[in-house]
Amino acid sequence: MKQICVIGVGYVGIVTGACFADLGNKVIALDVNEKRVENLKKGIMPIYEPGLEELVRRNVNAGRLSFTTNYAEALKGTEFAFIAVGTPSGVNGEADLQYVASAAKSIAEHMAAPLVIINKSTVPIGTGDWVADIVKREQKKQVDFAVVSCPEFLREGSAIGDFMQPHRTVIGSFDREAANKVAQLHLPLRAPIVITDLRTAEMIKYASNAFLATKISFINEIAEICEAYGADVKEVAAGMGYDARIGRHFLDAGLGWGGSCFPKDVLALAYMAEDKDLNPRILNTVMEVNYDRRKSAVRWTEELLGGSLKGKTIGLLGLAFKPNTDDMRDAPSIDIAQELLEDGASVRGYDPVAMEVAAPLLPAVKMYTDPYDMAKGCDALIVVTEWNEFKQLDLEKVKSLLKTPVIFDGRNIYDPAIMKNYGFNYRGIGRGFNGK
Ligand code: NAD
Ligand code: UGA
Repeated sequence: MKQICVIGVGYVGIVTGACFADLGNKVIALDVNEKRVENLKKGIMPIYEPGLEELVRRNVNAGRLSFTTNYAEALKGTEFAFIAVGTPSGVNGEADLQYVASAAKSIAEHMAAPLVIINKSTVPIGTGDWVADIVKREQKKQVDFAVVSCPEFLREGSAIGDFMQPHRTVIGSFDREAANKVAQLHLPLRAPIVITDLRTAEMIKYASNAFLATKISFINEIAEICEAYGADVKEVAAGMGYDARIGRHFLDAGLGWGGSCFPKDVLALAYMAEDKDLNPRILNTVMEVNYDRRKSAVRWTEELLGGSLKGKTIGLLGLAFKPNTDDMRDAPSIDIAQELLEDGASVRGYDPVAMEVAAPLLPAVKMYTDPYDMAKGCDALIVVTEWNEFKQLDLEKVKSLLKTPVIFDGRNIYDPAIMKNYGFNYRGIGRGFNGK
């Protein structure tokens, strides 16, 4: 049993804290957001993540997990401090490190015993050294510490499983003893452990996200070529995926990537390259291809409706950037809704869990609490997020409720032949000639 402090109780921090507690450690999770901490003390989660509430409750009841806003309390007796605060995009696309800086400063001011400080946030290459400088500078009295990079690879919606069964654990530090201590903490996860230097660990995180984003943009480009020539991108992805060098994961064509991670991390990596006078051609194209998807989705819906969106009512099935989360950060639904509204359409929205988060971001979108109610009187539906419940919709009923039976399936959840049989004017992404 080790004593751990996790700083930041957002997606990564709360999952990290709850999972380390579940592995038998004593964890104090800290946040500067008092409301979040108060809520957690009452058992109210800051985010929607399957299985999280139960995991937190179990570990709080067992006395292994607690919450605070007080750094001195959080660091007392602690051997490891994980920094898991946000690193959003800054004005020029760089990672904004103000929260990391503030956390490092607070750690320095309140640490009273030797500490391993671990960067779990996704931070630009060189941040580990910079954090070490801040801590050294801000310490009131000199106490030993080491900075280790241990980037997180969990996905929202499957965060607990990803944390508990990682593909690998990456640990970067110049301090071998500190790196070994962090490795020990992760041994129960039984994943391969890569121990390297700080900068390399930081780069592994960015390169991994950028590669996954590239795979998605690649398959989206292939999808367009498929459609032009009558091939089916789903079959293409399956056929490619059997090659172990390629793999089937992250080859789902659709509306492209959104969320809090790929958009900001690809941008930040491109920024880092440009900052060193390099030209990140692939990264720039990957982003361009991705954001074109959202505009294309609106153009394709317009085509299905005979060339104009003016006066039409469009229902968005799904608002979150992916299923099983209520995260709306850079969700394709936001740009799609905006573009539809600009083209004169009325927009409706339904999401199984993200409505509360989505509503303030989409004030001009009329929200519905039931997908059938939303469909009633719509000229078209767009599948924006592939929630499982949309795969099981009563399509006969949906067709009878729509003003015109038009569905643009931005996530390829339906079979084009079945949709044709139902009598829908249907279009998926890269699915043969799409009925043309
Ligand atoms: P988040 O915005 O959900 O949560 C960040 C939390 O940090 C907030 O609760 C905020 O109040 C708190 N905070 C800010 N400043 C603080 C301070 N000085 N002291 C204490 N708490 C402070 O962020 P997130 O999505 O969990 O992401 C955190 C980091 O992890 C980012 O760098 C992100 O890129 C990375 N990451 C995120 C994911 C993901 O799926 N969301 C996965 C892997 C890595
Ligand atoms: C992603 C990475 O998968 C995690 O490994 C990483 O830890 C995290 O970013 C991060 O650094 O924060 P996440 O954004 O939660 O996780 O979700 P993903 O499942 O990767 O999906 C990202 C986006 O890509 C979603 O918008 C999703 O709809 C889209 N996507 C994903 C596709 O369009 N096609 C695919 O085949 C896969």
